[in-house]
Amino acid sequence: MNRVKPVAADRLPALLRQMPKAELHIHIEGSLEPELIFAMARRNAVPLPYASVDALRSAYAFTNLQSFLDIYYAGASVLLEEQDFYDMAMAYFVRAAQDNIVHTELFFDPQTHTARGVAMETVVNGLHRACVDARAEFGISALLILCFLRHLSEEEAFETLEQALPFQSRIIGIGLDSGEVGNPPEKFARVFARCRELGFRLVAHAGEEGPPAYVWTALDVLKVERIDHGVQSSKDALLMQRLAQDRIALTVCPLSNLKLCVFPDLASHNLRELLDAGLAATVNSDDPAYFGGYLNENFTQTFAAGPLGAEHAYRLARNSFEASFIDEAAKARHVALLDETFASFE
Ligand code: HPA
Ligand code: ZN
Repeated sequence: MNRVKPVAADRLPALLRQMPKAELHIHIEGSLEPELIFAMARRNAVPLPYASVDALRSAYAFTNLQSFLDIYYAGASVLLEEQDFYDMAMAYFVRAAQDNIVHTELFFDPQTHTARGVAMETVVNGLHRACVDARAEFGISALLILCFLRHLSEEEAFETLEQALPFQSRIIGIGLDSGEVGNPPEKFARVFARCRELGFRLVAHAGEEGPPAYVWTALDVLKVERIDHGVQSSKDALLMQRLAQDRIALTVCPLSNLKLCVFPDLASHNLRELLDAGLAATVNSDDPAYFGGYLNENFTQTFAAGPLGAEHAYRLARNSFEASFIDEAAKARHVALLDETFASFE
């Protein structure tokens, strides 16, 4: 880290915004802004239990993960047509370009949609078309990661995998999200083993609200390559050693952790502790429409609250490229651009 020049505190926000970065933990349904929810509800004639955009926004006062998920699934109920999935993803790419995101890996939750009668094909085609256009319009590369909902059964995950197989070439990986506590990774041991045989890259949410034991089983039973969130790992010294030794990336989401009361404030967040322990932590927005900020807002608010400087910014951006599922040549190109940005920053 010592090749990074120090940067004055008042210039740090500009550096954080300008540096090229990858976002590896963004639920595309969590990028659906209230205005778009209402526009889609109107065009698809879907009733909403909120009278206005303001009424919906004022319901965004969460106490834990489940209190958020209830509203998040209600918001996603307006998505019916391929164009809806396309419009949702394109709105995110517009914001991503403003934040100097050059690569992103989008989570999507097909079971939230297939349960309402929307075909897998509708979901994947809309998102894939947006990924193709993001590269052409913004120069952003984007990959799709299908998440199984962990509050549902493993049998339902197998059915979802079956429905997704015709589109495997458009899906880089498999993840695991939704309510964590009481739904440990090992509940999905068989279906993740099958996904691994099929050649999917594997990730899982673990250690967001759940215990370090869930991070261990995500690694040792599911054999995931990255841990989404993982902030509870700091409660287990042996786990911290394992994550550092194996360079297992954590996709940390500071504003999400704040809004879901995982930490009481950003000054108490353990991002610095994770970096100091040698972990490959990254910063991400999770569900930016619900948690009060896209990626640059996560960076600037976290750095404003804690003892983090330019060398941490560099490390976080570099980790985001190294932990991504792009090829080594693309990683090297992004890291070279990152180095150039830091070298020329005044
Ligand atoms: N955790 C679990 N499930 C989710 C999340 C999250 O942060 N966001 C959307 N689904
Ligand atoms: Zn998440």
